[in-house]
Amino acid sequence: MLEWPSSVEVAPSILSADFGRMREQVGEVLDAGARVIHIDVMDGHFVPVITFGPKMVADITETIHDRGGFADVHLMIEQPERHLDQFAAAGADSITVHVETCPHLHRTLHAIHDLGCRAGVTLNPATPVAALEEAARYADVLLCMSVNPGFGGQAFIPATLDRLPLMRELAEGRAEPVQVEVDGGVGPTTIADVHRAGANVLVAGSAVFSTPVPGDAYRELVSLAAGHSRV
Ligand code: DX5
Ligand code: ZN
Repeated sequence: MLEWPSSVEVAPSILSADFGRMREQVGEVLDAGARVIHIDVMDGHFVPVITFGPKMVADITETIHDRGGFADVHLMIEQPERHLDQFAAAGADSITVHVETCPHLHRTLHAIHDLGCRAGVTLNPATPVAALEEAARYADVLLCMSVNPGFGGQAFIPATLDRLPLMRELAEGRAEPVQVEVDGGVGPTTIADVHRAGANVLVAGSAVFSTPVPGDAYRELVSLAAGHSRV
């Protein structure tokens, strides 16, 4: 099982990449120094959009692993437990599921571990943080959605800044390192705030890939995040 690369990571989300040039786009941010690539899988049921399945993930993880990266798969799908083995076989290093889709969350997170992947749990902006309090005892990643999942390029929801410290507290209650990740609306004007509020894995989609030079945008976000240490 791969360790998360470092204490603070800007994780480009390929949702906003050009899908016709996926390998090249992922390569651009890896070359710029990115080590965590965030991969959004959507089913058209839990969220309105369909993105891609395990085949695309396998094609991307090949490129990611060749360059020493880490594949962070975010499943926005109903009944994710039916597909975990396929995403693990596709090379996912971490698989994150939504509390809203998992009535048997304990079993699902342990199944992810048994497949040799880091296990992540996340929740929608209107779901109380308490919904993942128990899961925080055995998850490796606590992901705070800072937009309603389904689309890139949405505005950051400010209440996230009150939720992140609660998730950081849950993470710090553990002996093992637990990542606090934030996803949605993270860009130049919000990245320092989310880092300060307790997130150490900072997902950025449109702020990286909807720019002329994704590698430069990635580097700029890293420097903006690095200018601020967590309290
Ligand atoms: C949203 C996805 C995000 C998305 C974020 O449902 O989970 O990972 O790519 O996009 P931005 O950074 O543009 O808000
Ligand atoms: Zn995501």
